[in-house]
Amino acid sequence: MSARRAVVFGASGGVGGAFARQLAREGWDVHAGGRSELGYAAEGIEPFHFDYANEASIARAAEEIGREPLDLVFVATGILHGEGFGPEKAWSMIDGAAMAQVLAVNTIGPALVAKHFLGLLHRERRSVFAALGARVGSIGDNRLGGWHSYRASKAALVMLVKDFAIELARRNPQAIAVTLHPGTVATALSAPFQGNVADDKLFTPEFSAERLRMVIDGLTQEDSGRHFAWDGALIPD
Ligand SMILES: NC(=O)c1ccc[n+]([C@@H]2O[C@H](COP(=O)([O-])OP(=O)(O)OC[C@H]3O[C@@H](n4cnc5c(N)ncnc54)[C@H](OP(=O)(O)O)[C@@H]3O)[C@@H](O)[C@H]2O)c1
Repeated sequence: MSARRAVVFGASGGVGGAFARQLAREGWDVHAGGRSELGYAAEGIEPFHFDYANEASIARAAEEIGREPLDLVFVATGILHGEGFGPEKAWSMIDGAAMAQVLAVNTIGPALVAKHFLGLLHRERRSVFAALGARVGSIGDNRLGGWHSYRASKAALVMLVKDFAIELARRNPQAIAVTLHPGTVATALSAPFQGNVADDKLFTPEFSAERLRMVIDGLTQEDSGRHFAWDGALIPD
């Protein structure tokens, strides 16, 4: 079998970077996409630039990377806080511009990746599209409320991935699409909120990446459209 080929979006981030390096160590050919510089280099990793604010950058990457079929598309982009905003504790804190930014990165960005990359998944063997969601994006599991924009953006992502799974089943039955929760991971995204997390519940990016790899390895066609956690547990919609 030829070397397996993957593309990772958000490879400049904590989980995405660890995941790209993990695949490269396993001998995959990895196209690692960052809005920023990756900040690392490794054998088997071919960096590329993209930005969700510019769909043409995604289309261009698809044209270059998609010359041969892909075994895995891994979307590890996301935001929870940014310049002047953070997760809302109450509905009174909702700010339209901040919410639009969160939805643009967490929901619309991965949808644009799907638009340009789902058609590049391998047809002759099992292939996977995996986007990082978050457990807080589960409507059924929501007992605490708050974090309105982030939760809504991730719930909408789960819905889109389910849509893609249905379409994929018709177009490319060997392909699987899932949403994955990486656990609570020590990255820039979670940095302001790590104070409330017990040490044994705060994963390193490397641990999370390794567990996500195991979950992806075990996926079957019946799993397509579902949302799984880092330990393989099914998360309710
Ligand atoms: N960390 C956690 O505890 C946790 C928990 C649950 C779910 N998640 C999810 O896991 C995923 C990975 O998060 P992480 O913890 O690894 O966060 P991170 O280290 O902050 O990485 C986020 C990535 O998203 C990219 N990104 C942000 N805005 C972008 C844009 N407009 N265009 C293109 N790329 C953009 C960042 O690029 P730059 O490097 O250029 O900023 C970076 O590569 C996210 O979807 C997050 O919601 C994380």
